[in-house]
Amino acid sequence: MTTPTWTKQLADGLIMRAAAPEDADRLADYNARMHRDPGTEIDAFWIGEWTRDLLTKPHPTTPPEDIIIVEDPANGEIVSSTAYFNQTWSYEGIPVPFGRPEIVSTHPDYRNRGLVRQQFDVMHEWGRQRGHLMQGITGIPYYYRQFGYEMALEMPVMKTARVDELPKWGDAEDRDVRLRLATRADLGFVSALHRASQSRALFSVEVSESEIGYQLFDRDRRSALSAQPHIIERANGEPAGFMLLKPVLPIEQAETRLVEFKDASACRELTTSTLKALRERLEALTDESGKRIKTLSAFISGTCPVHQHLDKNFHNFYPSARPYAWYIRVPDIARLLKTIAPALVKRLKGRPHEGLTGEFLVSYYRYGLNLKFESGMLTGIDHVQWPDRHLAAVRFPDLTFLQMVCGRKSFAELHEMFPDCSAKSGVEADLLDTLFPKRLSNTIFAMS
Ligand SMILES: CC(C)(COP(=O)(O)OP(=O)(O)OC[C@H]1O[C@@H](n2cnc3c(N)ncnc32)[C@H](O)[C@@H]1OP(=O)(O)O)[C@@H](O)C(=O)NCCC(=O)NCCS
Repeated sequence: MTTPTWTKQLADGLIMRAAAPEDADRLADYNARMHRDPGTEIDAFWIGEWTRDLLTKPHPTTPPEDIIIVEDPANGEIVSSTAYFNQTWSYEGIPVPFGRPEIVSTHPDYRNRGLVRQQFDVMHEWGRQRGHLMQGITGIPYYYRQFGYEMALEMPVMKTARVDELPKWGDAEDRDVRLRLATRADLGFVSALHRASQSRALFSVEVSESEIGYQLFDRDRRSALSAQPHIIERANGEPAGFMLLKPVLPIEQAETRLVEFKDASACRELTTSTLKALRERLEALTDESGKRIKTLSAFISGTCPVHQHLDKNFHNFYPSARPYAWYIRVPDIARLLKTIAPALVKRLKGRPHEGLTGEFLVSYYRYGLNLKFESGMLTGIDHVQWPDRHLAAVRFPDLTFLQMVCGRKSFAELHEMFPDCSAKSGVEADLLDTLFPKRLSNTIFAMS
């Protein structure tokens, strides 16, 4: 066993420490047990394999020591663990250093003692040292609010269809599309599709070609995050799009997580044929016990134009019909806004606020922000403690301002939801909607 790169003594004799490659089997086994769905006997091996990948293969952005283990020396067991992924997101082209806590759990005998809270303190401190302007996690309902997170960034809605209701090739129909497994030689094409898709999103994830390569080709087949990458080809072999497909025969379901076409006309022209090719592919799959894929779920960013063409064939099933949300933490909102200011002020052009000069106080009651504009430029963003509510241009309870910063809600929607969210007048409300428009993000490559 190697000496961990860092350790921390906790109460009750517990030790918090960095994970190391030697922990791979034990931590994979622990995570598979802890993330088992309640009421089932099957360990979540897909989380176990994800963990093993992280500790045994070089990860493009996250070393093993960014995975935290809490151990009880009294019995030598792992009793709690989390991981912290280092990422860069993009806000309309502006890089935003981002940290992503994940794979969070505590053994049932050690719960409600603050073990996860202490690991979040460590990860938030890493974030501070590394200049992360935001943290985000997709997680269980409510829990992460307790660590300063707001469910502020929309996730894609899952749409599901029965495979036998998807469009089907006619007997004599020419195949104008075929699906072939992607190889590393396709990485340039996939990366170009991703870059093009970023222009449609508020936030998206900056991923290098080699990181896309890791995500598509280097994971264990059984990892929660692995899927089969497919190129959508025209009959003449020309690549027209890309798709991630994950058929899981034991549960007779398949999922597609990403469908991107080269351009809008390819999307219009080829979506129906792609569904036909997909149906043919899924219907051909079977295992030794005779299981077949019965349903296909699409978990695709709303920023992707393919949605409007899919809608004819897919039905929203409750309970997944309502989109879930990322938990977002912004440790220093002034710093984030200063970073993305060029994108914010660009939106004033051509609007009644063009060339704005003056101060604009955003209050979230205990704290606030004073935005200073000069000739349409944001020249100052200062923290204010106990802002005077009579002077505030707009007021938001708790962390709800983040709903606008992350594009999830308009000011009117927040005003409707929270009686203590208000603006001095419609002018201030409109300025806020101009600076922070409601807009979807694309976080597909955040799944490190
Ligand atoms: C949810 C889980 C990670 C909590 O771990 P834990 O070590 O008990 O968490 P902590 O004690 O640090 O919890 C911090 C706070 O949340 C509270 N809390 C604990 N479990 C909670 C839950 N399921 N929901 C809401 N609050 C919870 C604690 O009481 C504590 O409150 P306090 O700080 O005001 O005292 C643990 O129950 C678990 O592993 N569950 C199964 C796996 C899972 O769901 N992981 C999360 C995947 S996103």
